[in-house]
Amino acid sequence: MNMRTQVGIVGAGPAGLLLAHLLDRCGIESIALEDRGREHIENRVRAGVLEQGTVDTLDEAGVGERMRRQGLVHHGIELSFNGRRHRLNLRELTGGRAITVYGQQEVIKDLINARLDAGGQIFFEVEETSVHDLDTDAPKIRFRKNGEAHEITCDFIGGCDGSHGICRSSIPAGVLNVFERAYPFGWLGILAQSKPPSEELIYCNHPRGFALFSMRSPEITRLYIQCEPDEEIANWPDDRIWQELELRLGVDESIRLEEGTILQKGVTPMRSFVVEPMQFGRLFLAGDAAHIVPPTGAKGLNLAASDVHYAAEALTGFFKRQDNDAIPAYSDKALARVWKSERFSWSLTMLMHRFPDDGAIAARFQEAELDYLMHSEAGLRSIAENYVGLPLDFAEDRPAGARLHAMQAGAGR
Ligand code: FAD
Ligand code: DHB
Repeated sequence: MNMRTQVGIVGAGPAGLLLAHLLDRCGIESIALEDRGREHIENRVRAGVLEQGTVDTLDEAGVGERMRRQGLVHHGIELSFNGRRHRLNLRELTGGRAITVYGQQEVIKDLINARLDAGGQIFFEVEETSVHDLDTDAPKIRFRKNGEAHEITCDFIGGCDGSHGICRSSIPAGVLNVFERAYPFGWLGILAQSKPPSEELIYCNHPRGFALFSMRSPEITRLYIQCEPDEEIANWPDDRIWQELELRLGVDESIRLEEGTILQKGVTPMRSFVVEPMQFGRLFLAGDAAHIVPPTGAKGLNLAASDVHYAAEALTGFFKRQDNDAIPAYSDKALARVWKSERFSWSLTMLMHRFPDDGAIAARFQEAELDYLMHSEAGLRSIAENYVGLPLDFAEDRPAGARLHAMQAGAGR
């Protein structure tokens, strides 16, 4: 079967679904393809922290209603090191901005419902997806569904198929510059039926390694433990998990770790990865298809959202204002923000994890840096403004004073 659309989107993760939705709001049609089933992607536990700008984007796009009701707005986070916890008051340090804890799979459910309610087309469980004629005005996507072959002729293709998708690798050799760093550890992620130890997130730098105490609701905790990059889950029976978390949290009388049923466990390796440029001909890469961050700064999902904001802006310029400069500007605009989130994620990763074979001096450097940051107004502000997310127009030329003024007036995103 042959179809035609303005924007063909490969991948129905946060990037693909939000792109389809933002385009629809601007009167641009799209078709999204997803190789997994709807139930699978609606239940895949991944990220959980939404930056202020992501919340605003979802709200303005009309998909924020349940997030506003069920999401947990946090005005602070804690960093723990040397046996003490230090709170960063995000609200005071950023002129009133915050983060919202709301699971990625809930964002996915809201976006799928919105797409289907608006009559949008998503093909689930497609097979053998491939993209063609990327450097022509009529790029094509071919795929199979229920054994039948299909082709979609598009004006543009959104490559939103994550880090293992086919879009990035369909770009001819020699076009992309690849920047990559692997870290010598991973995160063991745990979802548990238990009350979070604190109302806010706690990031711990501990001699035994990093730990993170997050949540999904007042009854469900999301926990992470630094482990080997290729750790076997079988090495982590529930008892060992709770014991290790308690040691790394450093439980005292003000805080108590409640054990509960472990609902899910998984290991994520950690790496920084970026390709430049994020487009080739009529193919736009967005989200994990173009870059990966180590999860320490909670930036992965948020970068997917900011990429598609810039992609939708470029495509709207092309289709609605006949602005021919809009399309080539996409990659530079998106990368300017991507690199700042990559830098922040790398720096928080370096600060909070124990590196094997680094010796005692590395731990002293970390402690000194953390101690400096926690006692410096500039240091605290720098972590806070990156953590809540830099405004979407941060990279545009504007003196820092003017930006600060706009942020404090609540205007900056
Ligand atoms: P994805 O969410 O990966 O979506 C891509 C979609 O494309 C998928 O649904 C995939 O099934 C589909 N697809 C792939 N290939 C094809 C194909 N050939 N044809 C059709 N469809 C295809 N970030 C954090 O900030 N904190 C975390 O704790 C965290 N945990 C994570 C845990 C795991 C296991 C992973 C993999 C990621 C995690 N992330 C985390 C990162 C965050 O979830 C991602 O940055 C985010 O999902 C990026 O969205 P995306 O839409 O770009 O990619
Ligand atoms: C979560 C994940 C992160 O990577 C992070 O930095 C904070 C919270 C979470 O899944 O809740």
